[in-house]
Amino acid sequence: MSSYFYKSIVQICYGLVLLLNVSRLPQLSSAEDSSAYTFEANKIAVIGTGYVGLVLGAGLAEWGHQVICADILQEKITSLQNGELPFYEADLDVWVNANLSAKRLRFTTNIDEAVQNSDIIFVTVSTPSKSDGSADLFALESVAKTIAKNINGQKIVCIKSTVPIGTTRRIQTLIAENMNQNKFSCDVTFNPEFLREGSALADFIKTDRLVIGGDNPSAVKVIADIFHRLLSANTTLINTDLESAEAIKYASNAYLATKISFINEFANLCDVTGADIDTVAYGLGLDPRIGSAFLKPGPGYGGSCLPKDTLGLVYQAKELKVDLKIVQATIDANDAQINRVIIKLKQLLGEDLNNKKIAVLGLAFKANTDDIRCSPALTIIAQLLAENVHVTAYDPMAMNNMQKVLSGLDCCSSIDAATAGTDAVIVLTDWEEIKSLDLSRLRQLMKTPILIDTRNLYDPQKLDQLGFLFSNSGRPIKKH
Ligand code: UGA
Repeated sequence: MSSYFYKSIVQICYGLVLLLNVSRLPQLSSAEDSSAYTFEANKIAVIGTGYVGLVLGAGLAEWGHQVICADILQEKITSLQNGELPFYEADLDVWVNANLSAKRLRFTTNIDEAVQNSDIIFVTVSTPSKSDGSADLFALESVAKTIAKNINGQKIVCIKSTVPIGTTRRIQTLIAENMNQNKFSCDVTFNPEFLREGSALADFIKTDRLVIGGDNPSAVKVIADIFHRLLSANTTLINTDLESAEAIKYASNAYLATKISFINEFANLCDVTGADIDTVAYGLGLDPRIGSAFLKPGPGYGGSCLPKDTLGLVYQAKELKVDLKIVQATIDANDAQINRVIIKLKQLLGEDLNNKKIAVLGLAFKANTDDIRCSPALTIIAQLLAENVHVTAYDPMAMNNMQKVLSGLDCCSSIDAATAGTDAVIVLTDWEEIKSLDLSRLRQLMKTPILIDTRNLYDPQKLDQLGFLFSNSGRPIKKH
């Protein structure tokens, strides 16, 4: 009876916490909360050294924590131990090297040791798409079992990998079931990451929201405290249940993808009506209910997150017999947008691409990264190669990655080298170097001046004056 009474009180208190938990500054320091965890939460493990894990590990070390970054890939860890990054992200090497030298950051393949020597364990392993679109949770589950076996004291696990709704609760059970020593308990929390590749450090330092899901307010408070610098800089804290935290992440990426597909389709309408998508997006975005971000048309969204998470979300919803028509339409519109690039090319160059020489400028899925995962360039170049085109390419950072997967591609050391003597040029990534290229020179170098500017990098009037035959995304030539 007394344990039932106690449980009810705890449940009511927790319900109240949930009701009152959306606040600008965390107010979680009740006596009960602070007594629950005795450690200082200074010893942190980050398991998985991809974008999220490495930025998090280096960032937390930069804030003064002792951080162990662990990964099963020996080659990656050896490079990181030498201060070499496995991918390009501006200035991340500075954080990594400074904190390696200060001995606040270290890298290991020994996940057992990383778990044993840490109070907080962030899990940042990838959750890629399986061929059916569902999220592959193999890495997450195996890390959870490893964590369970190495729990040797009070610890909090915080999952940052993007996961289907309900996963963290399953992981919590998996850890409890696999623990060798049941004298310890282990709270599992979920803290979605919102940083973007290409601006990851800036996003780490300044974010608009910090979302933490968890059953135990004390554990949530410990995680919130780790990010206290964000909270004093006007970040909104949302403490919530595990499922809502997971759903916020899926909803965010699905909504962003939807905004892009929406503006891409509108740009397609502008193509045939003479309306200007830049003006339309400006007018649309001024409505604060809509907002101006993510209204730039392009060749279709790519990267390691939006394509994967929209697919994963639709898959989960289908399993649960919920029809997410809008997200499915977003995915379909994106596939169509990528295919439209070749359709536009053929409208200008003719249907037969056999033996043509075509340059692709920009291979990364967006500027300021060398990441080519789900880049529209992959699909577009593969199709050109299949139609026997000699494809030349230039990208300031992503050529090595692209050559590993598309061997028929002729990567060049400069924009000039890639575009000389070409029948057409397709611009796919908004790198500053590509945006600021000399259009007159490009016109002279090309065999025929056909340009597909999928990112609207160039002034249509100027392209027209220079004699280009071109197509962009919804920006007509202004007739005065
Ligand atoms: C995305 C989200 O923006 C992040 O908030 C999130 O943390 C991350 O996924 C993740 O889940 O880890 P990211 O994949 O780095 O970040 O790239 P975005 O900046 O979102 O761009 C995605 C794609 O949309 C790119 O191909 C980009 O070129 C395209 N895009 C973006 C447009 O075509 N138009 C726009 O207006 C914006």
